[in-house]
Amino acid sequence: MTFPQPVASRPVMSTQEIVESIRPRLRRVMIVLNNKGGAGKTTTTANISAQLASALHAAGSTKRVLAIDLDPQGNLGLDLGHQGKPGDDEGKSIIDVVEGTGGLHIIKDVRPNLDVVPGGKNLKRITASMIGTRSIDPRREILLSLAQALAEVAEDYEWILIDCPPNLADLQHLAAVAAEYVLIPVCFDQGAIQGLEGVSEVFDVASRLNPALTPLGVLLFGFDRQNLRKIKDEDGEVVGIKEVGFLAKKRKEISEVLGDSGIPIFQTVITRAVNVADQCRKHGRVFAELADLTAGADWKTHAKRHQLTLSSESAETSAIEMEEATAEIISRALELEAEAYA
Ligand SMILES: Nc1ncnc2c1ncn2[C@@H]1O[C@H](COP(=O)(O)OP(=O)(O)OP(=O)(O)O)[C@@H](O)[C@H]1O
Ligand SMILES: [Mg+2]
Repeated sequence: MTFPQPVASRPVMSTQEIVESIRPRLRRVMIVLNNKGGAGKTTTTANISAQLASALHAAGSTKRVLAIDLDPQGNLGLDLGHQGKPGDDEGKSIIDVVEGTGGLHIIKDVRPNLDVVPGGKNLKRITASMIGTRSIDPRREILLSLAQALAEVAEDYEWILIDCPPNLADLQHLAAVAAEYVLIPVCFDQGAIQGLEGVSEVFDVASRLNPALTPLGVLLFGFDRQNLRKIKDEDGEVVGIKEVGFLAKKRKEISEVLGDSGIPIFQTVITRAVNVADQCRKHGRVFAELADLTAGADWKTHAKRHQLTLSSESAETSAIEMEEATAEIISRALELEAEAYA
């Protein structure tokens, strides 16, 4: 009697083996997370990604930045301007990765040194496909799917940023399993506890598969600029900035909630600039790009023709805030990296 020969198959890796093999390649993955809508996640992701890419470009680096939109709203495509353009698959490739039917679709060069994985309405399917999976192991496989897909391309990228949706736990978990760092924007109209407890729930789930997941810090977003008072010396020179009123109160409240966790609240505050933000989103530009545009000779005519007003706000101020926030955020990430992998 002859028996059929076993078909050669790839060795099945345990969850532990998969995690150990991919983690070293995902050290520069940052997710931007807050369960509340309108906390500043997408704006922050778009601006930091563009800022980092622009710095790499200026330095003549071949390294790149990858910005991933994990939100069915697809707002990152508005802020970076790729929405509805060729290559925008509205999140289909992320679904393919989760369902194991295809790879990530990367739109190359939305800016020099900046690539994007688009999100959008197709991502609504993820929740259903995950909830339908009841046993633990296939769920783990799904949760690790994005991390595995990113590990395959991570070598090309200096930084990978993921914009998370509000209120969609499955997508948040998917992102958090792939990440090393979690950046938490907290907006002015949000309670500190409310802002942070959704994040800690994501930590509880994701850190079982990803013990490296580390909170990077809280970014205060959308606060009134009048809460920042200039401190002047006797000659009238500005020597510092003092936070007052609502902003000072909120920083204190959040730091009390954070307690001795070691999670910092970044010093830089992204102040409220509704008109700047509106123009950025309408034109697919980040703050620094709008600042360049508004400083140009044609802006006055353009603004008049389209009845655009930035009133007392300036794109330049918003751009500087984002630049300073990016510097703080990245230096904190690099410090943590040096501590963890020394
Ligand atoms: N500095 C700013 N001041 C005021 N509004 C801003 C500022 N920056 C961005 N916005 C606007 O605030 C709104 C919310 O910002 P954003 O979309 O980044 O938040 P989000 O957390 O991603 O929201 P969602 O949870 O819906 O995805 C947007 O309309 C955005 O254009
Ligand atoms: Mg968003």
